[in-house]
Parts: sequence; structure tokens; C-alpha cells
Amino acid sequence: MSPVDNGNLLQKLLKKASSESLISFTAGFPANDMLPVEEIRKCYEKALKDHQILQYSTDSKGNRSLREEISKRLKHKHIIITSDNILVTTGSSQAIDLITRITAAKGDVVLVERPTYQEVLKSLHQQGIQAVGVQSDWEGMLPEDVEEKIRTFRPKFVYVNPTFGNPNGKVWSIERRKQLIQLCKAAGVLILEDDPYGDLRFQSMHIPSLYELDEASDHATVVYVSTFSKIIAPAVRVGYIAANPTILQSLVQLQHLSVIHSGTIDQQAISHYLQNYDLDKRNALLVKEYQSRLNEMEDELVVQLGNEVKWNKPTGGIYLWMEISPDIDSMQLLEDSLANGVSYFPGHFFYVDEPDVNGIRLNFTFTSKEKIRTGIRKLAQVYQEMKASV
Ligand SMILES: Cc1ncc(COP(=O)(O)O)c(C=O)c1O
Repeated sequence: MSPVDNGNLLQKLLKKASSESLISFTAGFPANDMLPVEEIRKCYEKALKDHQILQYSTDSKGNRSLREEISKRLKHKHIIITSDNILVTTGSSQAIDLITRITAAKGDVVLVERPTYQEVLKSLHQQGIQAVGVQSDWEGMLPEDVEEKIRTFRPKFVYVNPTFGNPNGKVWSIERRKQLIQLCKAAGVLILEDDPYGDLRFQSMHIPSLYELDEASDHATVVYVSTFSKIIAPAVRVGYIAANPTILQSLVQLQHLSVIHSGTIDQQAISHYLQNYDLDKRNALLVKEYQSRLNEMEDELVVQLGNEVKWNKPTGGIYLWMEISPDIDSMQLLEDSLANGVSYFPGHFFYVDEPDVNGIRLNFTFTSKEKIRTGIRKLAQVYQEMKASV
């Protein structure tokens, strides 16, 4: 199935996932009941007190006060840059799109991890850009394969999501991070580091971003992308890019040509949020809640399928990756699972080449704890029935 066919099926799945009666482990949505509605309403009200907020913005990189707040937040992640090195975007989706468009064109190659974020595969495919999968294990991309693929394909960039990655919650080792930077630097290939989940860590240890590790070479190799979608609210559509001045200037120009600038009210609302509320405190609450939802999912998995399937132990993020029996195709299982009121993402979506047809991505943040238990029970029942029939 091509990424576009996958994409159409994906849209249908996401539509179903939002239906009330379905227990959804599909989408990468934050918990509905943790969205900060009151605080965001106040932030918008505050933003609208300034008449000028409804005017076009002349600040080409995005609202300055927001960029200053982002630069302060990045310091906690050991990323030391000024607000001038930041471009505010309409979610990280626009950030990824802009970086793709300034670096690659139809016929070019981009390297991606196996597996990787399905929307990137779909977007590259639609632009006629060839995505080539790099072999990976639980520590990250295999350096030998990165080297080989760079030599063979001369890619325009490498797309990675190395911290609590989508779809499998993987955290790359520091060694692999350094090796990727070294290889790309030597070959003059850019790295797009997508980091929407880095704040959602269940353990307190610092995981250096590729961007931080690229500091010595003035961030010439890595472009960093992140978002407020997973830690504040996705509907606000505020993301950002940190990049060196040369790259950033091209991105600013392209964004201007494309949409002039991202929504000013949304940017101002997020800026007020960061100035008036404690995002670290909110993040701690999110992490606590998500960790307990994950525990609920794992406990029920142990009871129902403990001896039959394997899964990773996520240390953050929003996804658990499960490997089912080689006799069962996760797409086939999905049909029965949907008929029984439970949805998830089959592994097929996350590969540009040979898919892992026995992989399943389970989101553990959107569904309530009670429904997680019921959903896993139903999924296990469908699974066991299918297994008994093969
Ligand atoms: C890996 C990854 N990158 C980017 C995004 C897009 O996020 P945003 O809402 O900031 O556009 C997502 C959303 O789920 C994601 O999983």
C-alpha cells in the first residue's frame, strides 16, 4: 500500500477514533480532560485586549515575546540560542513542511527511520520525494546503514524523531545520536530533528537533543523542530524551528511566501500562557497522568496477553509498540477489533518499504484509565479468537 492509500485509510481511522462509542488507541491526541481550557480562554482574552493583535504582523520570525519565552524554555533543554534563531510555525507540521521544501524537490531522496512518523512519509510521497528507510534497532539508526544509504542515495536530509519517537516511543542512545551527526556532518547532509514528545519524560534524566550535540559546529548540521501541541493544546497550532541564521532566513522567506505568517492571536495566547502559568508544573501533572494510564495499559496487557505478545516499556511520550504473533497481520486484526469497538494503528503505516505487519502502535494518553482496561480486554479477546483460528 502506498503512503497515500495508507493516508486515506488513516483519515477514516482517525474519524472513527473520535466517535464516542469506540475505544481509541489510534490517534496521538493528548487527554481531553487535561486540556487547559480556562487558562487558554483567559490568554486569548488578554491577547485581544491589544487592538494591534488583529493586524498583520511585521515580525517575520513570529511574535517576539513568544520567541523569547521559547528561548528560555530551550535553555532547560540545554539548547542555548537567542530568539533570533527561532521561527514560529503553524504547528510542527508546518515546520517539517517548510524544511522539506527548502531542502528537497521532486526526485530527491530523504532518509527516514524504520519505522517513522507516517505523516512525513505521506507528505514526501505527495511531493514526489523518495523516502528511503534506514535500518534501526532500539538504540537508533544503524550507523553502517546510514553511511551506506548516504553514499548510495545522496539524500537531501535525514528525518528523525529520536526522543520517545512516533510510532514506538524509542529513545536513541547518546552514542547513536553522535554517530548520526558525525556521518551527516562529514557528508554535508542536514538532519531534521522532530521533537514533539521530549518534555513528556517519565524519568528525570536529561536526554541531549541532536541539536544540543551539534552545538560545537554552530548548529550547521541539525535543524530542531518542536511544538506546544502535546504539552498545551494541539488546536492552537503553535510550533517552532530552531536553526542557524542561514537556514532560518530561507525558512522565513518561504513561510512568508506561503502564508505570510502564522496566526498572531494564537502566538500571543501561547506567549501569555508561558508568562502567566507554570508550564513545568502542568507538564509534571501530564507526565503523572500519562504514566498512570500507561501502567493501566501494561497491567491489563500482562493479565490478558502477557505470554503471547511483546511490547516495549516506554519511558515517556505517548505510544506503546506491541509485537504480535508472526501468524497474524495487524491490519487484519484491526478489522475484527474495530467491529468490537477498539481501534489502534497497525504497523503497516510507519514504513516506506517492507512493513512490520506484526507491529501495533497503541496510544495511551487519549483514552481514560477505565476505558483502557476495557479496550485491552476486548483487543485481547479478538486477538485470541483470531490466533485460535490460524
Ligand atoms: C512525530 C510527530 N511530529 C509532528 C507532529 C505534528 O504535530 P503538530 O500538532 O505540532 O503539527 C506529530 C503529531 O502527532 C508527531 O507525532
